Amino acid sequence: MALFKKKKELADYSDKAVPTSIGIIMDGNGRWAKNRHLPRSAGHRAGAKVFRTITRYCSDIGVKYLTVYAFSTENWRRPQDEVGALMRLFKEYLQEALDDFKDDSIVIHFIGDKSSFSEDLQKLMDDNEEISKDRDGMVLNIAMNYGSRDEIVRAVKSISEGVKNGDIDINSIDESMVSDHLYTAGQPDPDLIIRPSGEYRISNFMLWQSAYTEFVIMNKLWPDFKKEDLDEAIRLYNLRSRRFGGV
Ligand code: FPP
Repeated sequence: MALFKKKKELADYSDKAVPTSIGIIMDGNGRWAKNRHLPRSAGHRAGAKVFRTITRYCSDIGVKYLTVYAFSTENWRRPQDEVGALMRLFKEYLQEALDDFKDDSIVIHFIGDKSSFSEDLQKLMDDNEEISKDRDGMVLNIAMNYGSRDEIVRAVKSISEGVKNGDIDINSIDESMVSDHLYTAGQPDPDLIIRPSGEYRISNFMLWQSAYTEFVIMNKLWPDFKKEDLDEAIRLYNLRSRRFGGV
């Protein structure tokens, strides 16, 4: 019997590059629940637990930025009871997150338009950002009411405003200026985007930022996703030859 229980069980990353920035489209909660004859909300609840485990694991193995897609600008079209259940789940988890990610020094940041959420949820989002802003660990972007087209439209409007009032010279507009007007301003683009549930779609997620991202699609529903699946996604990522348009 081991005398000391290992504090954290991590895969051996000594011979693999850990991506600096990872995005995850947490998909398949509904199907997971349906397969078990459970309401869709049970799938989201199971998915939220996995979100917490995988976030911690990413931080443990040295990922610097993790972006999770929790709620899109299009998800409001879902039945009212499902949207209601998701909002309750967000409140519960964001209440816990105030304390939960402290030991891991995780910086919490929301990307998306907060203004559509209830006041108490907006306050929880603001409190999470405020309480974690001086930490020095992994940055966790939680995409809520996020749509990448909407994000780009906002950037265009903001730059246009600058041109109109004379703060921006139209000839100085370049790719880095556009990046600096996105919710992810100041952060590196994702190296790897993982989509569980076997769907080959980007679903309005980080369209600008993913120009040279490696995609890994996995045939697992998000509530079944394990640390080992993240290891496997990183293993596949390490097999890719990234050329960024060069040779
Ligand atoms: C997509 O699966 C998943 C969502 C729309 C919700 C994701 C939210 C969570 C996992 C909760 C995370 C909690 C926090 C606090 C960030 P789907 O419902 O579209 O699945 P389906 O394609 O199988 O129907």
